[in-house]
Amino acid sequence: MYADRVLSGMRPTGSLHLGHYHGVLKNWIKLQHDYECLFFVADWHALTTHYDNPLGIEDATSQMVIDWLAAGVDPAKATLFIQSQVIEHAELHLLLSMMTPLGWLERVPTYKDQQEKLTEKDLSTYGFLGYPLLQSADILIYRANQVPVGEDQVPHIEFAREIARRFNHLYGKEPGYEEKAEAAVKKLGGKKAKLYQELRTRYQQAGDEAALESAKALLGETQNLSLGDKERLYGYLEGGGKMILTEPEALLTAASKMPGLDGQKMSKSYGNTIALREDPEVVIKKIRTMPTDPARVRRTDPGDPARCPVWQLHEVYSGADTRDWVRQGCVSAGIGCLDCKQPVIDAMLRELAPIQERARALTEDPDTVRNIIADGCEKARDLARETMRDVREAMGLSYG
Ligand code: TRP
Ligand code: SF4
Repeated sequence: MYADRVLSGMRPTGSLHLGHYHGVLKNWIKLQHDYECLFFVADWHALTTHYDNPLGIEDATSQMVIDWLAAGVDPAKATLFIQSQVIEHAELHLLLSMMTPLGWLERVPTYKDQQEKLTEKDLSTYGFLGYPLLQSADILIYRANQVPVGEDQVPHIEFAREIARRFNHLYGKEPGYEEKAEAAVKKLGGKKAKLYQELRTRYQQAGDEAALESAKALLGETQNLSLGDKERLYGYLEGGGKMILTEPEALLTAASKMPGLDGQKMSKSYGNTIALREDPEVVIKKIRTMPTDPARVRRTDPGDPARCPVWQLHEVYSGADTRDWVRQGCVSAGIGCLDCKQPVIDAMLRELAPIQERARALTEDPDTVRNIIADGCEKARDLARETMRDVREAMGLSYG
């Protein structure tokens, strides 16, 4: 078995905000102590939606890496690299594309969702349809078994699992495996054997999950097979050959929904963010002007924290004492909203100060950042090359 290896990627969006910090980076920073970690900038993935305006990706990449490092991602513990600088990802993506049923890609929920959401862009491209397959290549090329991602990415990890399974099935068979499985099918008897074959074909050629389930049920009811043959036929449906690629799992973190300035989830598209490198004066201004309970028009009106986005920030930043003070002061109109916001401002500035200090130092020292990335790319390339050797060999392309 392989040891746990964690891999995750982020599209280069430039400077990061507190939503990234609380939602993703803090988790990465924790994981880097316990696992072998690889974190990368998914710059090719950015091109799937920004192919019309690629300039800026390079700068966004370095700004993002500066923020990773400033937040505490440690290059001595984790390998940091850029997807496009490890071109083996592209080779694996290409080879996997040969065996990926179109239906599997079309059924990934983000495909239609994003096309419908980003109407101003033409996303009926080959590259965009292949987004989850490129992501699969990212993961499988490192044989990563744990992939920390948000809820929205779970279907992509599921997809990568299916691709790994299909690959292992197609190219990882031991000699004689096929014949033994075929002999076991015959033992099922005429009608059942025919049904089994039909269902297996439907699953393998069209990715029909229902057919897979029916075939498993059919085997479950079968009485006249030895245990060995039964296992063989379960395996024959899905794979059962040698494991060349590792099936990854999503490593879900307790969804930390960092609230933005308006109470919605913090996100660039809502314009409700505080950047990690936000000027402290701007932080103060943004919090001071953020909306509160709309019912609290005058200082003398009592409020309700449950209807106030500031309260959500207290839930992130304040201890029990401060929260009690807020709750009581708010419902009794004992404190003003600016009083209430001050502890949040203080805590946020305290959190940002060391991050901003490190970011400043890194910005003044671009060589260090460049070297960190170059080192990381080299390490990643070595790992990727190892997998590609096995992949090429399994597919009959080693020319050695
Ligand atoms: N699709 C991911 C996102 O939008 C980014 C990504 C690309 C990724 N390749 C990956 C994440 C591999 C985890 C593993 O957030
Ligand atoms: Fe919101 Fe605090 Fe004002 Fe109450 S006192 S409305 S919790 S900002």
